[in-house]
Formats: sequence, C-alpha cells, structure tokens
Amino acid sequence: MNPLNIVILAAGKGTRMYSEKPKVLHALAGRPLVRHVLDCAAALQPRQVCVVYGHGGEAVPQALQQHAAQFVIPTQFVIQAPQLGTGHAVQQAMPHLTDASQTLVLYGDVPLIQPATLQRMRQAGDGLVLLTVDLDNPAGYGRIVRNAQGGVLGIVEEKDATPEQREISEVNTGILLAPTSKLREWLASLQNNNAQGEYYLTDIAAMAVQQGIAVRTVQPAHEWEMHGVNSKAQLAALERIWQQVEANRLLAHGVTLADPARIDVRGRLNCGRDVGIDVGCIFEGDVVLGDNVEVGAYSVIRNATIAAGTRIAPYSLIDSSEVGADCHIGPYARLRPGTRLHDGVHIGNFVEVKNSEINRSSKANHLSYIGDSTVGSGVNIGAGTITCNYDGANKHRTVIGDDVFIGSATQLVAPVTIGKGATIGAGSTITKDAPDGELTLSRSKQATINGWKRPTKEKK
Ligand code: UD1
Ligand code: CA
Repeated sequence: MNPLNIVILAAGKGTRMYSEKPKVLHALAGRPLVRHVLDCAAALQPRQVCVVYGHGGEAVPQALQQHAAQFVIPTQFVIQAPQLGTGHAVQQAMPHLTDASQTLVLYGDVPLIQPATLQRMRQAGDGLVLLTVDLDNPAGYGRIVRNAQGGVLGIVEEKDATPEQREISEVNTGILLAPTSKLREWLASLQNNNAQGEYYLTDIAAMAVQQGIAVRTVQPAHEWEMHGVNSKAQLAALERIWQQVEANRLLAHGVTLADPARIDVRGRLNCGRDVGIDVGCIFEGDVVLGDNVEVGAYSVIRNATIAAGTRIAPYSLIDSSEVGADCHIGPYARLRPGTRLHDGVHIGNFVEVKNSEINRSSKANHLSYIGDSTVGSGVNIGAGTITCNYDGANKHRTVIGDDVFIGSATQLVAPVTIGKGATIGAGSTITKDAPDGELTLSRSKQATINGWKRPTKEKK
C-alpha cells in the first residue's frame, strides 16, 4: 500500500458554538474534538499529518503542538485565510504532501471517526474512495449521484441540487481518500461557480469519473462516526452517544453498571472481572480497576490504579493515585496526586491524602489530612489528625513507623518522625520526634476549678 498522508480540516469558525474558543478545541469525552481525530489519524500510522486551521485560530496549533510532539508522526499546521471552501482548505495542505502517496481528508469537528472504517477505505482500492452513509433525513448534506448501474457520477451540494437530487438519501460524509498526485491536479482545476461561491472539495468526484478513475464508496460501521459538531446541542448529543458506546463496551466485558446511562468515561477505563460501578461515576484519563473492585455512587477517579477487591464508597475523589488490594476508601474520601496506598488500607470519610505512601493495613477513618507523609503498616490514625506539612514557605515530610497509634485531634508538625510502635496521646501537638514504643503527648494537665459558675446574662 502507498504511504498515507492525512489532512485534517479545522478552519471553520464554529459560529454556532457561541464561544471564544475555536470549535475543534471544545471537549468531547474530556478531550478536544480535534485530538480525537489526531489520535485516530495516528492509529493509521500515516507518513504525516497536516492540520488546516483558520485565521485567528492560533489556539489550535498552540493546543496541539505539545500533543503532536508526543507521537512520532510529523504534524504540520497550515493556516487557511480566508476560508474559501473545503477544496480551498485542502489546497493549503498540498505543498506539504508528496506525490507517491494517498491522501486521506478528515475533519477536526467529526471526532468519532474510527480507524477500522478508515482502514476499510484504504483497502477499497487506488482510485477515489468516498465515505458515504444513507440517512433518513439527508437535509444539509451533499448527495451522492449515481448512474442507473449504481456507479458514482459525482457529489452535488444541497444548495446546488435539483428537487430530484434532494430525494437521494445517500450523503457525502466529507471524508475521502485520493491518490495525492491526482488530488493535486483536481484541486488546481476547481471552480467556485456554485450556489455558495466556494471551492468545493466534492467537485473532485465528477473529475475522477470524467478521467475514468474508479470512484468507490465505503460506509462507516456506525452512523455516529460521521456526525459533525456545529453547536453545543450537537456536542452534547454526540457526548451521550459516545458514553453509551463506552458503557456498552464495559457491559460486554462483564462490568456491572447500575445504570449504563449514568457513567462518564473521559479517557480509558480498564476493568478486571466482576467490577461494579454505581451511578454517576466519572472516570478520567487512564484508570485501571482490578477484579471485584466496587465503585460507589458519584465517585470521580482520574489517572489511577485500583487493585483487586477494593471498595470505594460513594462520593470519593481519587486523582493520580495508586490504591492497593482490599482497601476501603470513602465515603467522601479524597486521594490527591502522589498517593500510594498498599493493600488493606482504610481511608474513611473526610480524609484527604496527598503525596503520601501508606503501608499495609493502616487506617485513617475520619476527618484527617495526611500530606507529604510516609506511614508504616498497621498504623491507626485517629479522627482529626493533621500533618502540618507546610510552614508557610516549604513543605516537609512526616514519617510514621509501623504499628503507631495516633490519638485523635493530633497535629504532627513536619518535619517529624514518630518511631515504631509509638503511641501519641489524643489532642497533642507534636513538634519533635517521638521515640519507638513509648507514649508521647503534649497537653496541659486537666484541671477542675471547683465551684466555677458560668457567666449569666446581665439584666438591663
Ligand atoms: C461539506 C461537504 C458536503 C458534506 C458535508 C458533511 C463540501 C463542499 N461539502 O459540506 O458534501 O455532506 O461537508 O458535513 O465539501 N472547512 C475548512 N475551510 C473551509 C471550509 C470548511 O476548513 O474553507 C472545514 C470546516 O471546518 C468543517 C469542514 O471543512 O470541518 C466542512 O465544512 P462545512 O462548511 O461544515 O461543510 P459543508 O459545506 O456543510
Ligand atoms: Ca460550507
């Protein structure tokens, strides 16, 4: 097969989004529309990708520059100003494409196109390959005009179509594959004498026919692959379609979803066997849930690994953390970036953990803050314990040895080390290291003032 170039058209203004942000940077499933297209493009391993963006849309290359560098495929950004139609847009990319190749045209605002569909287009032959679809309501789209034998004659835009042509239900998705040298030649001879005064990319179909070059059509596996986004309503509708696809994928894999309509996956969610997910959960970035993991309602999990058998109770937030097996998390727990919990750890309600390692079977069950800490195994952290890791300028570490018992409402002022097996009396403010195995506490002695009376309200 010839090497592949991919041109992504992303110059449209997106007027109907009513937003300062270029349309293709609006997010679907947590990622800009055009990033979905770039990722799909990358999956085809093209020789290069060329993104055509619009005047004033500098935010597009800026937002994607970093991403482009992430994958090995060379990515060019080409400005199209003014915007004189889809044919004119592809023309802007041509100087960057070499002839002995095929060129695939994709759209930055058609985010859900799938690599498998594009692979089938590549396998369809060397001529011009159009991605088309039959729609119950074809209004607004270019129509595929065929002869009596079913051969493609060309594409007619709705605004230029006769009433008979408007009856055609097979529409042009816009996505097409062409031999690059031919595409160059066809684009050079485009005219704009049509209803919209634009250079139509679609006119190349009739040119191919005229030259006796085969024009073939391929249909996407799913209609949603060709859906474009022009408004917030279309964006929201496509988001729901994609979430349903994700939910069905999880169900097919054996995951139990309390309600497939109430889960949002914004990235990649990988689940082991017998995983259960209650309603309203959001998964972002790369999340891995081990066998038998249960995720309680309205939890948000981002870039995290949760090992087998762990139970996450409702309303928990887990971000960039690693959670071991058979842990109990939440309800209302917050694991911030850099948290590493070993097996059997319990983190209860209103406990915040940040940049800390907590070893096997340790527990912090209520109302605590554990930041920049190393906690041993078998430790019990009483309610209301706070590691005071910040002195107003710098962060310091707290080290807690194995089998320590920290009494409730304790402040551990870092840097500080609590020795193995130590006990800290409730209500202490610990500013110096505490030795192994001993009881350490810091409080004034309890006293009783005999006969003391509460103040009473003065009579006016
Ligand atoms: C185009 C097709 C039509 C097809 C429809 C599918 C042409 C002439 N018509 O219609 O057959 O059914 O898409 O949605 O190609 N763009 C640019 N620069 C431009 C013009 C457009 O980058 O100068 C980009 C837009 O950002 C968009 C895409 O091309 O991503 C399609 O443009 P749009 O105006 O939405 O397409 P239509 O003209 O409606
Ligand atoms: Ca148009």
